Amino acid sequence: MKENGLGVDVVSEGELKKALLAGFSPSDIVFAGVGKREEEIEYAIKKNIFCFNVENEEELDIIEKYGRKYNKKINVNLRLNLNIDVDTHHYIKTSRMENKFGIDIDTAKRIIKKEFKFAEIKGIHFHLGSQIKEVFPYIKAIEEIKKFCLENKFNIDMLDIGGGFGIPYTYTDKIQPIEEFGKEIKSALKNIKLKTIILEPGRFIVGNSGVLITKILYVKNRKTKNFIIVDAGMNDLIRPSLYGSYHLIYPTILKNSKQIKFDIVGPICETGDYLGKDREMPENIKTGDYIVVMSIGAYGFSMSSNYNTRLRIPEVLVKNNKINIIRKRETYSYLFKPEISSKIGKI
Ligand SMILES: Cc1ncc(COP(=O)(O)O)c(C=O)c1O
Repeated sequence: MKENGLGVDVVSEGELKKALLAGFSPSDIVFAGVGKREEEIEYAIKKNIFCFNVENEEELDIIEKYGRKYNKKINVNLRLNLNIDVDTHHYIKTSRMENKFGIDIDTAKRIIKKEFKFAEIKGIHFHLGSQIKEVFPYIKAIEEIKKFCLENKFNIDMLDIGGGFGIPYTYTDKIQPIEEFGKEIKSALKNIKLKTIILEPGRFIVGNSGVLITKILYVKNRKTKNFIIVDAGMNDLIRPSLYGSYHLIYPTILKNSKQIKFDIVGPICETGDYLGKDREMPENIKTGDYIVVMSIGAYGFSMSSNYNTRLRIPEVLVKNNKINIIRKRETYSYLFKPEISSKIGKI
């Protein structure tokens, strides 16, 4: 991504450190997040990141404090909560009044009248939610921002329109082509003079590029339901359990056999631990076979956990037909290390 000229949108000190370690320039990093800790803000200011997307009024005072301490001007965008609903799962809607994100319009009106010496409010940020399949909510948001700027005589240099561009998870997902997003957003921005436009298309870039390969441990046939029990669970891929999301699932070897329906479930001690429900699979699929869960490149590994004291799985990058392990399988000694009281003997 760096080689292709992209920057990074981070949401924690950890993500910021990771971006810096990966070689991104601080001037290509923006920092969003509804709950930035003071130490995180100070660290980002010391590192000279490009901009903070501010989500709370008090956050600006903290930025001002550290701007003064290090005698630095700091770029700020106000993340506005525009109370715009989008057609997506309610867990990934982020710009309605009942969502924790952003600053409401009345507070923003008050903030832009305040004087800051070090925090320089350069523009506006919004992020409407994720898996947005049509461009019109972005256009509506841009129109709202134009109205806000006009009514409050607030000139902006910078606009960050967030991410959320939908990707296909099934063959039937209807998503407006990204070119249309580009064209319509560009046209909506025609009459605002901006120096910088930022986009945060997280899932769009990586979502369809990853797969999860998991082994079948057991096949359980009941009169009422068939189960395939695999060695990956909700700790490895939480999206189906968390938001009922749908991932295509295939056997890695296609068998010429009658197809029957199975629930594909993991080994975790939760009924909600599943990867797919009522999926057609070959009737003769068996222990030791592998299945592949598609489109897990975004919010897959990054949302994984060690629940049930399970080791996180390795990540393998396939590039030009070569494979590279880019994250090793975890080990128990790594996992138990932070537990101060544990003496790791032979296990
Ligand atoms: C501020 C912000 N920008 C961008 C994104 C990326 O969203 P998506 O992966 O849906 O494009 C998120 C996701 O949570 C976000 O919170």
